[in-house]
Amino acid sequence: MKLAKHPRRRRVLALSLAVSGLAVGLTAMAASEIDADQQTALALVQKFAGQLKPRLKAAISADGPAHAVAVCATEAPQIAESLSAESGWVIRRVSSRNRNPAAVPDEWETAMLKQFEDKLAAGADPSSLSQGEVTPDGYRFAKAQVVEPLCLMCHGQTIAADVSAALASYYPNDMATGYELGQIRGIFSLIKPR
Ligand code: HEC
Repeated sequence: MKLAKHPRRRRVLALSLAVSGLAVGLTAMAASEIDADQQTALALVQKFAGQLKPRLKAAISADGPAHAVAVCATEAPQIAESLSAESGWVIRRVSSRNRNPAAVPDEWETAMLKQFEDKLAAGADPSSLSQGEVTPDGYRFAKAQVVEPLCLMCHGQTIAADVSAALASYYPNDMATGYELGQIRGIFSLIKPR
């Protein structure tokens, strides 16, 4: 065999095989880490929604939606903050038509919102829309939050007068009404910092 006469070439071949094996191993490792990050991100989103929705429903049935605006105004950001503190991730909600003045999407989030809107327009199930990506800021994850019947009393096209008044007092620059069922209200946006 030709290689046998060229031990150096054989060593080089062995070395390059080892290096490419290592590269394959590293890629596999990175992929499984991304899978794990995605699982964590989804679990955090479920926890967020799982804490917020029952609080909203309880506040609405106890004192009506106008009072629930105040509950949502303080508790939604609090839930995001406490989940961020316990997980080490950065967790928030943003929208291209934001209510909370701090909920303005950054460049990556804007791209995700656009991508989800395009997919929805092409017929995708909006509740299936999510995307994870490794970015220079760390692993980022976005999941669409879809307008359900519950959302309409505070985000819909017809808002009761007392709810409107409550919204106007908390959020004078509110852009988050006029939605219909099945639209994308915004995204859950998560970053696992490097
Ligand atoms: C009782 C009124 C009320 C209901 C019902 C309600 N929201 Fe909101 N929503 C608010 C308020 C108040 C805020 C601003 C508080 C905050 O920062 O999260 C808000 C903020 C948001 C945001 C963050 C982005 C932004 O615009 O500031 C998203 C996303 C959102 N709501 C989605 C929903 C969805 C989806 C539903 C239905 C499952 C829903 N909301 C139901 C009142 C409500």
